[in-house]
Amino acid sequence: MPTPSLCATLGLRLPIVQGPMAGADTPALAAAVSAAGGLGMLGCGMRSPAAMAEAVAQLRQQTARPFGINLFVQEAPAPRSDEVARAQALLAPLYAELGLPQAPPARWCEDFAAQFDALIALRPAVASFTFGLLSAAQVQRLHAAGCTVVGTATTVAEALAWADVGADAVCASGLEAGGHRGTFLGDWRDALVGSMALLPACADALAPRGVALIAAGGIMDGRGIRAAQALGAQAVQMGTAFLACDEAGIPAAWRAALARASATDTRLTRAISGRPARGIVNALVERLQPHEAEVPAYPVQNALTAALRRAAAASGRGDYLSLWAGQGVAAVRPMPAAALLRCLEAELGGSQMLSNE
Ligand SMILES: Cc1cc2nc3c(=O)[nH]c(=O)nc-3n(C[C@H](O)[C@H](O)[C@H](O)COP(=O)(O)O)c2cc1C
Repeated sequence: MPTPSLCATLGLRLPIVQGPMAGADTPALAAAVSAAGGLGMLGCGMRSPAAMAEAVAQLRQQTARPFGINLFVQEAPAPRSDEVARAQALLAPLYAELGLPQAPPARWCEDFAAQFDALIALRPAVASFTFGLLSAAQVQRLHAAGCTVVGTATTVAEALAWADVGADAVCASGLEAGGHRGTFLGDWRDALVGSMALLPACADALAPRGVALIAAGGIMDGRGIRAAQALGAQAVQMGTAFLACDEAGIPAAWRAALARASATDTRLTRAISGRPARGIVNALVERLQPHEAEVPAYPVQNALTAALRRAAAASGRGDYLSLWAGQGVAAVRPMPAAALLRCLEAELGGSQMLSNE
């Protein structure tokens, strides 16, 4: 079956999705991207249902264009108290250094079922998911609410699992990508495939199923978009590039680190959050990295380090922040999102003309 055009279905002028970035995106960023003809996304994995509704209301005040909401598919964990105590003991010297009390968080994560109901009620054009897989019944509920459903995959097997439950598109996230790996099948160390290999393999697997492919990981300019299209993607999802935009909601120390970083300054680590994520190496990564294998799984470790990272942000300390960013970080162009989209459009148009010559 021919794969429906994602951009035509969503009415996008540009094949560019602003990557959802929980804790870093803002309604202003998503609205600017959607208003300029791309797809703005709200990363709502860490937003409560009330905060989701508020973010969507703010976005809708700024644009009537389509946008998306992204959630983490996860269950509330029930860690053993000795596991939590061990993890807290590892972090105690860092908390002491910043003069912070080390209290256990009120809860480990938001309630996914409540977030899912909130998403259905908000009816975004796109509902996207990472960290896990929905059931076919959940996908049907989203379709009934008029949502185009996008699942994140880091392997062909995960892409096919999303096709099996009826997703409309798969966002294939290469090893280069900033932020957390979405891996949900098998060991994350077996799912470290670069985009050059992942995209054509996913394109071949998804095309017979009529499922569209979105490319994520290391795409920073028009050349990257064209390359992803050549490998079978209908659209690209760019995170790091938009993280440096004026509208992103990140602390100044993170912004400064983005501006300084070179391509070799990022690494994948599960030491900060308990789920592998790519970010710029700083003191926090270096201090916790030796314990990477021991720390509890996401979201427990993430919640245990959250107060430390919040305090680091408030006091302008980039050394104890999580500086999530992808391998393309050296190519960030700090500017308003609308200006970045104009640049990308010009670059895309230019290379398109070249390929037509
Ligand atoms: C700070 C940050 C936060 C992110 N948060 C999310 C998220 O909440 N949900 C999600 O599906 N992807 C998340 N991502 C991944 C992006 O949406 C996107 O797929 C990825 O950044 C693409 O790779 P790039 O950074 O090389 O452009 C995040 C990425 C970054 C850099």
